[in-house]
Amino acid sequence: MNVRITGTGSSLPGKILTNADLEQMVDTSDEWITTRTGIKERRIAVEGEYTSTFAAEAGHHALAMAGVQADELDFIILSTVTPDFPFPSTACIVQDLLGATNATAFDLSAACSGFIFGLSVAEKYLRSGAARKILVIGSETLTRIVDWQDRNTCVLFGDGAGAVVLEASDGGHSLLSTHTFSNGKFWNLLYQPGSGSRNPATDPRTFDERLIYIAMEGNEVYKHAVRSMEEAAVAALDANKLTQADIALLIPHQANRRIIDTTAKRLGIDPDRLFTNLQQYGNTSSASIPIALDEANRQGVLKSGDKALLVAFGGGFAYGSALVEW
Ligand code: ACO
Repeated sequence: MNVRITGTGSSLPGKILTNADLEQMVDTSDEWITTRTGIKERRIAVEGEYTSTFAAEAGHHALAMAGVQADELDFIILSTVTPDFPFPSTACIVQDLLGATNATAFDLSAACSGFIFGLSVAEKYLRSGAARKILVIGSETLTRIVDWQDRNTCVLFGDGAGAVVLEASDGGHSLLSTHTFSNGKFWNLLYQPGSGSRNPATDPRTFDERLIYIAMEGNEVYKHAVRSMEEAAVAALDANKLTQADIALLIPHQANRRIIDTTAKRLGIDPDRLFTNLQQYGNTSSASIPIALDEANRQGVLKSGDKALLVAFGGGFAYGSALVEW
């Protein structure tokens, strides 16, 4: 059964936080942030905007492009580490917002790689015949769990959502393969220590000790990220009997310019085959790849027959890749 991407969509908050704005908040500089990360500005959710807000809008755009009605969807798979609530799933809220009355909706947690993991799950439903139309969304409001007093992390993240409609169909762009990996040995190098069952939000210590915010060993994450993204990319190339020369566009998780450039270099992919938008949006975790894919699609960067390699890495560690033929 062919699995096709028939629509893409994205949604970003209107509010922009620039590096100059951050200079007023913590001891940092535009120069430091730009040279270490490549990020110039990021989008920030304002009051009344949640993970579900962006997810539903991105989903709506993807459905419109696909020409699929919300009630035709069999599943909504939403990846996020910043759900509206611990429960119910944000996917159920999005189901309600879209009117996708016939869909089974659930959230998936694989941090920055969540969208690739979502594609992988959807691919299996579609190839097995268990579903015909699935909406896969990556949506985050990371700025709600960022410590605005910690310059090591607060400069990195932004909010937004991206989505694709996947169909078992002969029209559209082929999803050729997905590969997923986990390395739980390093779960504590990038995580949110508080608000789960270990350090519950109900314990005042969680708040007092600032456990509710993202905690990260940046240097260690960096080293693992480049190695793992290369591994995931090579798995996709090998499975499809391709080499890097066959790839028209690399769409990596938009974590940080240096991770992206090093990964591309290790793969032998030159900068003109690299899609980046982190300069505008920062790291939007599981939303970053579907936002980038939607932009590449709507800007006409991807041409018919082009092969695009999507590759992600994040907390868990969880990492993976997807190969798409446009
Ligand atoms: N502004 C100014 N100085 C800063 C800032 C800041 N925003 N942040 C840290 N510094 C300082 C540090 O305090 C340190 O100062 P010190 O030497 O006086 O102690 C100095 O800069 C160097 O700190 P490092 O952490 O060694 O800086 P590094 O060059 O490693 O860059 C960074 C940090 C950008 C986080 C890097 O480690 C990195 O890219 N890591 C990957 C992690 C990442 O991208 N995470 C995103 C989430 S994971 C994912 O999505 C894959």
